[in-house]
Amino acid sequence: METLKKWLSAYPRAKVLDVATGSGAFFGLLLEAEASLDDSVGIDCSERAVAAARGQFAEFPKLHFETMDGATMSFRDASWDVVSLANSLHHLPNRTKVLREMERVLRPGGILILQEMVADGLTHSQLSHRKFHHLSAEIDRKMGIHHRPTYPRDAIRSWVRQHSTLEYAEEWILALPKAEKPNQDETDALFSLMDRVVNRIVDSQTRAPFAAKAARIRAYIEKNGWDACPEMMIVLKKSIPAPR
Ligand SMILES: C[S@@+](CC[C@H](N)C(=O)[O-])C[C@H]1O[C@@H](n2cnc3c(N)ncnc32)[C@H](O)[C@@H]1O
Repeated sequence: METLKKWLSAYPRAKVLDVATGSGAFFGLLLEAEASLDDSVGIDCSERAVAAARGQFAEFPKLHFETMDGATMSFRDASWDVVSLANSLHHLPNRTKVLREMERVLRPGGILILQEMVADGLTHSQLSHRKFHHLSAEIDRKMGIHHRPTYPRDAIRSWVRQHSTLEYAEEWILALPKAEKPNQDETDALFSLMDRVVNRIVDSQTRAPFAAKAARIRAYIEKNGWDACPEMMIVLKKSIPAPR
């Protein structure tokens, strides 16, 4: 959190654009890093996600959410101080196009923050998270929704270095507090969420192999516990053109 705070302190009262915002979780992280959310915007291509984000952040009247595709944004060039993409790289069918757009709307001197859950170097309890996440990704794909498995650290780093035109300024792993061992209520809630995810597949024959996989994951979680996967953070900086 200290590294994120350090970066944000260089942009007091920054106008932040969070792309593929979902229910706005990245703004929660910004609040923890003591950033102001005034005049910031979250966009998502799903109207349902935007409605959820509006509900979550109803107490922040100067934070807005809009339905918009990250690959074709209607914002002017160089109109944001900070542009972010959190836990969504593996959700984008057209990630290079979205990255280009994010770079276009970022002002010179501004920063692009990428946050992405990693798939490698996990403890046994973090593997529980990855297994469940990869099962939901597989179910999404079965239902025609683009959702890849999460990437190992090296794959994230090399994709960004290869495709971004910005300066690769810093990379770190976000220190999340180690979760307490889940109590029975939390474990029950997790397993009922897993049931709901599997039950999205209506046809029972198609659902059967996923239900069997979910049962194996449940046994793994009962044995090994649960912890969130680490999050890789990357800050890219847009240079200011030298005066002529
Ligand atoms: C895992 S979710 C949201 C993650 C959220 N940023 C967070 O940190 O919790 C991924 C989101 O990407 C959105 N999405 C996928 N493709 C998109 C696109 N081209 N433009 C905007 N949003 C997109 C989905 O609708 C979904 O809400």
